[in-house]
Amino acid sequence: MSSKDAPRTAEVSLYDAAGLAEAGTADANYDALERRLRASGVPLVAHVEQLLNDPHVAPDVWGGLACLLERCATADLRGAVGLVLIMHDLDEASRVLEPAAPVLERCSDRLTEPSTRDAFREFYRLPDDYALDSATFYKLGTTSFILECRRAPTDDRFAKPQRFALKCLLPRYLLIRSIRQRTLAYKHEHGAEVSHAPQIYESTERYIAMDLVVGDTLAERFALHRSKRRTGGIDFAFVRAVGVTLCTILGELHQDRHHHLDLSPSNIIVGPDDALDLTLVDFGHNFAITEKVSSNAATKQAMHYIAPELFDDTTRDDAKCDMYSLGVILLEAAADANQDLGKAGDDSLSMLWERAPGIARIVEDLIDDKPEYRLLLADEETAAIHIFTSPTSSSRRPR
Ligand SMILES: Nc1ncnc2c1ncn2[C@@H]1O[C@H](COP(=O)(O)OP(=O)(O)O)[C@@H](O)[C@H]1O
Ligand SMILES: [Mg+2]
Repeated sequence: MSSKDAPRTAEVSLYDAAGLAEAGTADANYDALERRLRASGVPLVAHVEQLLNDPHVAPDVWGGLACLLERCATADLRGAVGLVLIMHDLDEASRVLEPAAPVLERCSDRLTEPSTRDAFREFYRLPDDYALDSATFYKLGTTSFILECRRAPTDDRFAKPQRFALKCLLPRYLLIRSIRQRTLAYKHEHGAEVSHAPQIYESTERYIAMDLVVGDTLAERFALHRSKRRTGGIDFAFVRAVGVTLCTILGELHQDRHHHLDLSPSNIIVGPDDALDLTLVDFGHNFAITEKVSSNAATKQAMHYIAPELFDDTTRDDAKCDMYSLGVILLEAAADANQDLGKAGDDSLSMLWERAPGIARIVEDLIDDKPEYRLLLADEETAAIHIFTSPTSSSRRPR
């Protein structure tokens, strides 16, 4: 946005509009307000960006906007306000580790308003054939959210699948150049056909369009397993299945000189079938975490899975970074209901040594802080699979 059209020079802003709405001003004034907003010549989307990127918005502004949404008459203002409220809700939910489902549902409801869909399309600069009329907010991540979208129907029977996932950056991350660039380059860097990863169709500075992968995340599966095992005890079959499957996938990936670099249970999707069918999403060095541009709860948790050497810019072995993450994931798979999640802490590891020394030995080898001491049991990922499948890994089950 150039300084020429910066909203600060506008006669009125969405802040004023929200303030008036909060104060319960008579309806007649809303028409005048809307006229003034439009007369300012500043695109509504610029007002939206200003509000979303201002870290010091008073909490009552959001309440004011909700009132305004009920009262404003013009479709484009309604759309802009609807968009601001959606983004604000998603942003809030991504900062705290609360279940996202109610927020996603509320935002999906707001998107049923055509003017909000228009504002959303303009904000993310979406192509015309990305149909939003039945789109729903599907998942929330650490820096983005996933919208389940459709492509407008075509007669081409070889056309790509109609239903797809649109990963959109949350507005505050749109301000960070390294994150925008990573998003833009995603198709180029990770779009080659990689097994166990969704096909990527398009990536811009604001979004990535890709196959929709149906299933729970491994994080959700872990939570389910833990709730079933409140009384303690390790589900060896599960831990081993996760270990063997991930070792196999990483082995294939690394052989193709591809690396994940942000492997965590939230970036692994488990297919709906009984077999452990895993798909990796969200490839690439996560700048929001390693450059500490975000301190929200979700990114703090995501930090636990990242190899320490990824936090400084010394030369590193990318495959070893992924194997470190695998170790933390396995430690979590073996943790019980009372343990702190995703922490490669001494407590979790010593408990694992007591209960399952075979698995503990592998995990300890994977999560060594120093890459040169990591993977001493197995130089290659394929060898790690043998450790898993060897009988020693579960030979001393606690009685
Ligand atoms: N292609 C996809 N299909 C279905 N769900 C996905 C897809 N990509 C990501 N997700 C889900 O959305 C969440 C957020 O996406 P992700 O790419 O991990 O974003 P972030 O960088 O914000 O963490 C993931 O944890 C996963 O649950
Ligand atoms: Mg993610």
